[in-house]
Amino acid sequence: MKHAGAWNMLTAAVCVALLGCLQAQELQGHVSVILLGATGDLARKYLWQGLFQLYLEEAGKGHSFRFHGTALTNTKQGQEIIAKVLESLSCPRDTAPGRCAELKAQFQQLSEYRRLKTPEDYLALSKDIEAWVQHEGLQEAGRIFYFSVPPFAYADIARSINSSCRPGPGAWLRVVLEKPFGHDHRSAQQLATELGSFFQEEEMYRVDHYLGKQVVAQILPFRDQNRKALDGLWNRHHVERVEIIMKETVDAEGRTSFYEEYGVIGDVLQNHLTEILMLVAMELPLDISSSEAVLGHKLQAFRALRGLQRGSAVVGQYQAYRGQVRRELQKPDSFHSLTPTFAGILVHIDNLRWEGVPFILMSGKALDERVGYVRILFKDQAYCAQSEKRWVPAQSHCLPQQIIFYIGHGELGGPAVLVSRNLFRPSLPSASWKEVEGQPGLRLFGRPLSDYYAYSPVREQDAYSILISHIFHRRKDSFIAMENLLASWVFWTPLLDSLAHEVPRLYPGGAENGHLLDFEFSGSHVSFSQPPLEQLVPGPDSAPMPSDFQVLGAKYRDSPLISAWPEELIARLAGDIEAAAVRAVRRFGEFHLALSGGSSPVALFQQLAMGHYGFPWAHTHLWLVDERCVPLWDPESNFQGLQAHLLQHVRVPYYNIHPMPVHRRQRLCAEEDQGAQAYAEEISTLVTNSSFDLVLLGMGTDGHTASLFPQSPVGLDGEQLVVLTTSPSSPRRRMSLSLPVINRARQVAVLVMGRMKREIALLVSRVGREPRKWPISGVRPDSGQLVWYMDYDAFLG
Ligand code: BG6
Repeated sequence: MKHAGAWNMLTAAVCVALLGCLQAQELQGHVSVILLGATGDLARKYLWQGLFQLYLEEAGKGHSFRFHGTALTNTKQGQEIIAKVLESLSCPRDTAPGRCAELKAQFQQLSEYRRLKTPEDYLALSKDIEAWVQHEGLQEAGRIFYFSVPPFAYADIARSINSSCRPGPGAWLRVVLEKPFGHDHRSAQQLATELGSFFQEEEMYRVDHYLGKQVVAQILPFRDQNRKALDGLWNRHHVERVEIIMKETVDAEGRTSFYEEYGVIGDVLQNHLTEILMLVAMELPLDISSSEAVLGHKLQAFRALRGLQRGSAVVGQYQAYRGQVRRELQKPDSFHSLTPTFAGILVHIDNLRWEGVPFILMSGKALDERVGYVRILFKDQAYCAQSEKRWVPAQSHCLPQQIIFYIGHGELGGPAVLVSRNLFRPSLPSASWKEVEGQPGLRLFGRPLSDYYAYSPVREQDAYSILISHIFHRRKDSFIAMENLLASWVFWTPLLDSLAHEVPRLYPGGAENGHLLDFEFSGSHVSFSQPPLEQLVPGPDSAPMPSDFQVLGAKYRDSPLISAWPEELIARLAGDIEAAAVRAVRRFGEFHLALSGGSSPVALFQQLAMGHYGFPWAHTHLWLVDERCVPLWDPESNFQGLQAHLLQHVRVPYYNIHPMPVHRRQRLCAEEDQGAQAYAEEISTLVTNSSFDLVLLGMGTDGHTASLFPQSPVGLDGEQLVVLTTSPSSPRRRMSLSLPVINRARQVAVLVMGRMKREIALLVSRVGREPRKWPISGVRPDSGQLVWYMDYDAFLG
């Protein structure tokens, strides 16, 4: 009974070989599979086997097939390699040896090797296919081109296929592409545009072989089939954390030229682990078989990802890597690689379902074991009144509750889905999943295997065989759509940029790693648990210490100056703002804070959002110092920055939030809509004497502050509290508090950060009050206090 499926398949395949039987089938057309790079590693290891599998499964259902292995290798050599590969193919487990030989012989007969190099070669292939189809009296159904070649070859091949090897009208074309798809957002975009000029998106199948892994492919169906049990659990109220892990024992030897360009993040995290993250985190579509719905929901989840910062990652490099790179890439002994071979990343998803839940993504080469899994650990929210010895594992809510999608390898040795028995009994399709037999003594994630409902596939299948079958059946949901790919690069590129000069922690490899790569997280920050032992890769020249500068920095333009390294500076400013807020609320019952936008305050917003539990948010009014004339939801909007980094994490009452009205009557900053006047009125009504408790400003490299720009007289004096101005850079139209209202504030803090500000900081330190040339020089509170907050880069260069 168990093997009925396999037998049907074999009978069907044999059927094809017998002509009479073939005629009894309804003819569905001829399919040509062209495997480019047919003599390469991937093809030899997985793709030929996958094609054989496809043939076994489909040939009896009415399609006819031919398989054209192609490469640049000359014909004789290529034929020899392919002959060997075809000989080594394996049949389904229960096929009798004689039968297997027969099936392989049929497949070999339908397979050929040919050199495919010039556009003429492509044309010749196309002609051969047409001639074959005609000769056999068949109809052409379509052509699959599987690109198992390095990406630099993509464009030429794509051009040749498009110009000389497309099937005729009525037949389809599918091209299958293997990663890497670029090494950052820009290169991915370029590749996408290039390929898009030859193929329709619908014709392209971008492979992420993890989507073909049986357990990964089961995540959405599992969520779908267990909706009832999971509906209430799959959220921030119940999930403690999610771990998405791929550990490898192998290292990068033999692949360093590839690895140097991609590192572990480009090789594994940007694709395999990100795809899994999406499958876990996305909202579940009603119809999970709709690839459009799945894509739409994935993109929505991508948009909710909190941007990664330098502090979101820890990176390492196994010690032998550097030597391997030097040998393989012929580098001198002085060469140091900064490429990470290990990364631990902390991801947050800022939506209602997942806010606050840490998602840990981790992968590395040369680790102590090979294993891949997704672990969803639920919160321990129970108290058990009985003593522990009386707890019954299947019932006690005081034992860990977890769901594990065990992708493979590790202690369990194969793929499985595990659900703690004290959680619920899951439903899995019984035709393809069976209960795992007990393995006494085996413990997983802290509990004996017997504590879990555990299921494994009835028939283990290789990811590539599954994906090849999905290509044939046009199941696009198992592939990476262009928008998905670009969204993933948008997420990862800033982290890659910020790690470009980071020295990874060296680790010896294997079991010797000990606890060296353990890491911890708090808030949005992750760090290694152990202090570094020894820095074997020298970092950039040793930087000066804050103590070197302590003599400096008491005054700047006759006002107090606080100068420190960025983190310390931001912590100090956040502390000062909180102290001002507490004072104001104690005295007046409310605190009016006007904030600038741009990039410098982002770290401040994050600091305030994370660590300041004593901040009287419920009594704080938030105002904007300036705004760009774009809708409030536009990523360029200052309000949007405030919303993303602060407002959504704290509890400021809705009626205390005062965005600038730049968007009225569906127009942006139209004079006649009187937005500036309306904001001024709101200030006069709510803020006593229009005197803010604290105004946070920045200083531009041209000396502008708020949106008051040099050589533009608007807002520098006069009665107006709020003005419309023009910026030299886009978006040009702005709304801004005027200098007089800024100078009426009780406190003004100017935050200046980064080396780019060095020159203007030096210049402004020497000039008098000349707001027309340098609006920042006009900031002199009438009776309040001005404090400068400058980091060492800005202050000392
Ligand atoms: C590939 C990476 O995509 O996946 C390799 O390029 C990695 O570096 C491999 O070893 C892991 O795949 P699997 O199927 O062996 O887990």
